[in-house]
Amino acid sequence: MNDDASRMSRRQLLGSVAGAGAAIALAPRSAAAEFAMSDELNHIDAPIAADSLASISDFEKAARVRMSSMAYEYVSGGAGDEQTLAWNEGAYREITLRSRVLVDVSQLDTTVQLFGRTLPHPILLAPTAYHKIVHPDGEIATARGAAAADTTMIVSSFATVSIEEIARAVPKAPLWFQLYVQPDRGFTRALVQRAEQAGCSALCLTVDTPVLGARNRETRVSFQLPAGMTRANLESLSPATASSSHRPPEGAIYSEVLEPRLTWKDVEWLRGIAKVPVLLKGVLDADDAKRAAELGVDGLSVSNHGARNLDTVPATVTALPRVAEAVNGRLPILLDGGIRRGTDVLKALALGATAVAIGRPYLYGLAVDGSAGVSRIMQILRTEFEMAMALTGRTSLSSIDRTVLWE
Ligand SMILES: Cc1cc2nc3c(=O)[nH]c(=O)nc-3n(C[C@H](O)[C@H](O)[C@H](O)COP(=O)(O)O)c2cc1C
Repeated sequence: MNDDASRMSRRQLLGSVAGAGAAIALAPRSAAAEFAMSDELNHIDAPIAADSLASISDFEKAARVRMSSMAYEYVSGGAGDEQTLAWNEGAYREITLRSRVLVDVSQLDTTVQLFGRTLPHPILLAPTAYHKIVHPDGEIATARGAAAADTTMIVSSFATVSIEEIARAVPKAPLWFQLYVQPDRGFTRALVQRAEQAGCSALCLTVDTPVLGARNRETRVSFQLPAGMTRANLESLSPATASSSHRPPEGAIYSEVLEPRLTWKDVEWLRGIAKVPVLLKGVLDADDAKRAAELGVDGLSVSNHGARNLDTVPATVTALPRVAEAVNGRLPILLDGGIRRGTDVLKALALGATAVAIGRPYLYGLAVDGSAGVSRIMQILRTEFEMAMALTGRTSLSSIDRTVLWE
């Protein structure tokens, strides 16, 4: 598609799409598919039919023209020079698969057992903050899309809709809660109880963010929550009345809503007060994984926070085998970071993950077409994963092991 004639026609089409919101409403499929393949950017105000897009990368391109530049930079950016951001996705391309033939793959079982429940498939929505900057209905739309796709959503402490409102919007859908321990432990305890009462069946304690990383792209767009949006779960938190031990230490790297004093003792404290399973989110190191298993936490999430914190740590799929070895089957292991294809899911499971989670992909789905976009992202990934299982001759998750890999 490099000849001038086709370039011209694409540009003309893009021009008409950008110039008239009606154009995309009249012909959403062709226009959406056209700019999904294009590198050119024109802002589009109308939703784009999610079922016209074929891959996660189509969604990322479409999302770019739907999102404000502040939202896009916030969501897509990583820390530092974004080495780890590139590795998270790139590492999967370095792992080769073994296709197998003449296996009856007419029935595939993608169910997975997690904390006494059976999930229909092993892909969850990782917790991400501030969905209202991506879509006006925020986390409500995400939750509806997840519920429609039989997917567990892990709600962020920094959601722009409260955990109670989200749970009310999707009464029977599976929800977990991600916890950023607050300097005020009394508030934190109340937050845990609120999440449990709202029906969250597990807690992901994020342990990789005592401080944020150097997020240059956020700095360049002066990222801040737009007026009218709040961290809804933290609204009753009152820094003004907090005692000095609840205030962050002096220094530019600290935040009022992150806890730099968090240690293993707090993990024990949380396990003591929680009524639901507690996972540690953000473990990359085998020694930390071993300690977590010895402490008796219920699960681990191998994560580098979507490459947003410490640049040049390895890709999560690179770190996974050592963590899996250290844990030695004692705990379920979730993995997130860079999952963009069903083959990535297969590779992560082959290297020791029990299940995986996605972050940016469903935010792109949300930006493109609200809850329908979130469901479509899940449909694409699940379908690709089933194809990958069938083409490697695996009919259930228990039959996925390292022999899937060309090693
Ligand atoms: C925009 C954005 C916001 C995030 N917010 C949170 C958060 O509030 N809490 C948390 O534990 N992780 C957060 N994460 C990290 C994700 O849970 C997850 O680790 C990461 O997105 C996975 O990588 P992926 O985006 O490549 O799929 C965020 C990630 C993104 C992209």
